[in-house]
Amino acid sequence: MPSDTAATQSKLAQAFTPLRLGPIELPNRFVKAGTYEGMNVANAPSRALVKHHADLAAHGVGMTTLGYTAVHPDGRTFAEESWIDANNLSAFRALTDAVHAAGGKASLQLGHCGTMTRTPNRTVRKPGGPSKTLNLYGAMVGALFTRVMTQQDIRDIVRDFVDSARHAADAGFDAVELHMGHGYLLSQFLSPLANRRQDDYGGTPEKRARLAREVTEAVVDAVGDRIAVLAKLNLRDGARGGAEIEDSIVTARALESVGLHGLVMTGGFSPFSPMYLFRGNSPVPAMLQTETSRWNRFLLKLGAKTAFRDMPFEEMYFLKLARQMREAVKMPLGLLGGLRSADNVATAIGDGFDFVVLGRPLLSQPDFVARIRADSRAQSNCINCNRCVAEFSTPGGVRCVLNGPNDPALNAMRAA
Ligand SMILES: Cc1cc2nc3c(=O)[nH]c(=O)nc-3n(C[C@H](O)[C@H](O)[C@H](O)COP(=O)(O)O)c2cc1C
Ligand code: SF4
Repeated sequence: MPSDTAATQSKLAQAFTPLRLGPIELPNRFVKAGTYEGMNVANAPSRALVKHHADLAAHGVGMTTLGYTAVHPDGRTFAEESWIDANNLSAFRALTDAVHAAGGKASLQLGHCGTMTRTPNRTVRKPGGPSKTLNLYGAMVGALFTRVMTQQDIRDIVRDFVDSARHAADAGFDAVELHMGHGYLLSQFLSPLANRRQDDYGGTPEKRARLAREVTEAVVDAVGDRIAVLAKLNLRDGARGGAEIEDSIVTARALESVGLHGLVMTGGFSPFSPMYLFRGNSPVPAMLQTETSRWNRFLLKLGAKTAFRDMPFEEMYFLKLARQMREAVKMPLGLLGGLRSADNVATAIGDGFDFVVLGRPLLSQPDFVARIRADSRAQSNCINCNRCVAEFSTPGGVRCVLNGPNDPALNAMRAA
């Protein structure tokens, strides 16, 4: 039952105060979580993507995060994902200009998929990861077998993150968010599920955290005086044998020691526990309707019987673990996962989290922040059906199914 006490009102008022993250200041504590939009033309932002994020800023989101953008063409999971380089900065610049004109800040989520790819046009035959694994996801595009990354590969990855962060700053982004969760490359290194190395990058939690730390340190050194450097990190993988909260605290402390400006806390390791990150209804029935590859349909059906099953939704589903993280580090922390009401926001701020991070509530109601400002009893209308997860593969790009369709024509035009 939502509360409307003076204490709740005062915590909500705090949520609308500015927040300093390294060299930048957010106008308020509301951050839009990266929700991959599927709004790219020739691997760069479309006009629909610009509109999507400018609308969020116009409706009062303090900082909006562009979903998964690869640091190298080989870092894409899906072929149509974007990467940022000197040749496509103008399209990203169109987006940051529009967000700034609407009064918000813009963050770019940077990731590398490691072995988790289904991109056919790669520069390397076998995708690299911390250890060898079978990438069933990539079986139809010749990426079933993977290879162990060498020390040189590791140095290249650090450089790719640095180059992309520099491009992001040049394109006008206010922040980058280094993706260390959900089973992508940095998460693969962090997780005992994927990392069986015996060298300086595997074994103990400290060694598994080494690549994440090196990437963070190099990015902070390169751009940390111009833009905020954030990371999105699993609190736990949510799968047996995966990283647990104790491991994640080791990682977070290492990132804090090299100057990370803030942490977004998540969970889930896509190949084993995708529903741990979403909760609610399995998106598989909707994904089967948009998936064109027969092999991927087969895998989805297989996954639907195991990892991709419905998982009960509860509000603020990472709160308990996030409180442990709050005890362990001092840097700004963003609470994410199942925040669905003004009351949830007040709880997060009251518990000492510095900002809140919202995904689906801002897909279903892009003006949800304004609604919270107007009414301390505001509730999200998101029903956790997760059908939006299938929508990013449609011509119009990501949308909430409770709302009208997007304009595919706008999504077919490059931003600049
Ligand atoms: C359609 C959709 C796409 C997503 N894409 C990304 C992504 O690109 N990167 C990421 O880190 N998380 C992604 N997520 C996860 C969200 O960022 C967020 O962690 C999750 O939805 C939980 O937050 P919520 O309860 O506020 O939605 C996605 C979620 C959805 C629903
Ligand atoms: S489709 Fe809409 S209601 Fe369903 S989970 Fe996504 S945002 Fe929520």
